[in-house]
Amino acid sequence: MDAVRARYPALADGRVWLDGAAGTQVPDSVIEAVSSVYRAGLGNQGAAFPVSARLGELVERARAAVADLVGADPGNVVFGPSMTALTYRFAAALSARWRPGDEIVVTELDHEANLWPWAQAAERAGVVVRTARLDRERGTVPVENITGLLTDRTRLVAVTAASNLLGSIPELATVTDRARQAGALSYVDGVHHCPHAVVDLAALGADLYVHSAYKWYGPHLAAVVARPGLLAELAPDNLRPVAGGGPARYELGTNPFPALAGVVAAVEHLADPAGHAATAAASGDGRRRALVTARAAAVEHERALGAALVAGLRAVPGVELLPGAQLDPAQRTPTATFRLRGATPAEVARALARAGVNVCHGHAYAWAAAGALGLRDSGGAVRASVNHYNHDQDVRRLVAAVSGYATGREPG
Ligand SMILES: Cc1ncc(COP(=O)(O)O)c(C=O)c1O
Repeated sequence: MDAVRARYPALADGRVWLDGAAGTQVPDSVIEAVSSVYRAGLGNQGAAFPVSARLGELVERARAAVADLVGADPGNVVFGPSMTALTYRFAAALSARWRPGDEIVVTELDHEANLWPWAQAAERAGVVVRTARLDRERGTVPVENITGLLTDRTRLVAVTAASNLLGSIPELATVTDRARQAGALSYVDGVHHCPHAVVDLAALGADLYVHSAYKWYGPHLAAVVARPGLLAELAPDNLRPVAGGGPARYELGTNPFPALAGVVAAVEHLADPAGHAATAAASGDGRRRALVTARAAAVEHERALGAALVAGLRAVPGVELLPGAQLDPAQRTPTATFRLRGATPAEVARALARAGVNVCHGHAYAWAAAGALGLRDSGGAVRASVNHYNHDQDVRRLVAAVSGYATGREPG
C-alpha cells in the first residue's frame, strides 16, 4: 500500500480522498507521460518529420493499452473526450438505423449520460423508450425488469455495469445475452465498473462498453470498446478525408496526444500499481496477464475496505445507508452512499471537508435513480468511494468524522 500511495502526489496533502467515483487521482507516471509529449514536441499525424510518426504510434499504443485493460481487440477501441460525448456520438450513429415504432430499453439505475442521450435520439426517430425500474429495496435493477421489456422491436438496451450512486452491479451477462437473442444491441456503461473490476468484455457480452480513464487513474479521456465487426456496420458523421470503417471514423478532429500517452501510462500502472516489475508493462499477452492478476488483487483490497466502510457507517447513530449497501461485496462496488438524519447531505459533506475528508454529495447525475428514491429534491446523498490507493485509515477517518458530526462534536 505504501508503495502504491507514494506514486500519487495528490495524496501527500494528508487529506482523505474518498471521492474517486467522481474522478481519481493520477500517479506520477501518468503526469510524466502527459508532460513528456509536450516536452518532446508536437505535430500532427501524416507529416514527414519524426514527431508525426511518433504521435501516430502513440494513438495505436493507446488503443492497444485500453484493449488489454478490458480484454478486447485494439481495432475496436474508439476514443472521445468523455463518456457523455461518446454516448451522444453513438446515439447519433445508432439511431440513424432506427425506424418509427422501434423500441429501446434504458434503466432507472443508470447515470443520466446513459439514459438521456438515448431518450433524445429516440424522440427524434419516433422510437419508444421503455424504462426498466429500480428495485428500491435492493438498490439494483433486477434482470427481469430489463428482459421483461424486450420485444422483437427492441433495437438497443442501454444499461450500467455498476451504479455510480448505489454501487450495485446488475447481472449483466444475462441481460446482454437476452438482448442479443431479441436482436438488440447492448450499450454498457462501464464508467463506475471498470475501476473496480477485472473487465472481460467477452464474459460481459456487451456489444459496446464505454468507460472513462479519469475514473481509473488516467487523464480526462473516454473510450468505447466495440464487439468485433460492429464499428464497420455504422456510418457516423465525420469529415470526407476520414476514410475506413475503423475507430478513427468515430473520432472527431485531432487526437489528444498527451492524454493518450497518459492512458498508456495509467494502464501500465494498473498492471503494476506499486511499480515493482518494470517488465509488467510489456504490451500484448504479457500485459493482459499482468493486468488480470493486479486488478484481481486491487478488487479484493477494495472490497475489504468497502465492506469496512459500510459496516463503519452503519454503526453511526442517525446514518441511513441507501439501498445497495446491503448487497454482498461481490455484487457492488466499494462505494457507500448515505444520509444523516437531521442534516442535509451538503451540510455533512462540508463538515467532512473541514475534517479533511473529500467526498461527493448530491445526485451524482444518477438523476432517474435519485428521483425514484425520492432524494432528488432533498439534496441527494453523501457518497464515499474507495479506490485502490485508499487504505484502512481513510475509512476510519471518514467514519470518525461522520460520527463526530452526528453526535454534535465538530470532526477534526
Ligand atoms: C456511471 C457513470 N456514467 C457516466 C458518467 C459520465 O462520464 P463522463 O464524465 O466521462 O462523461 C459518469 C461520471 O461520473 C459515471 O459515474
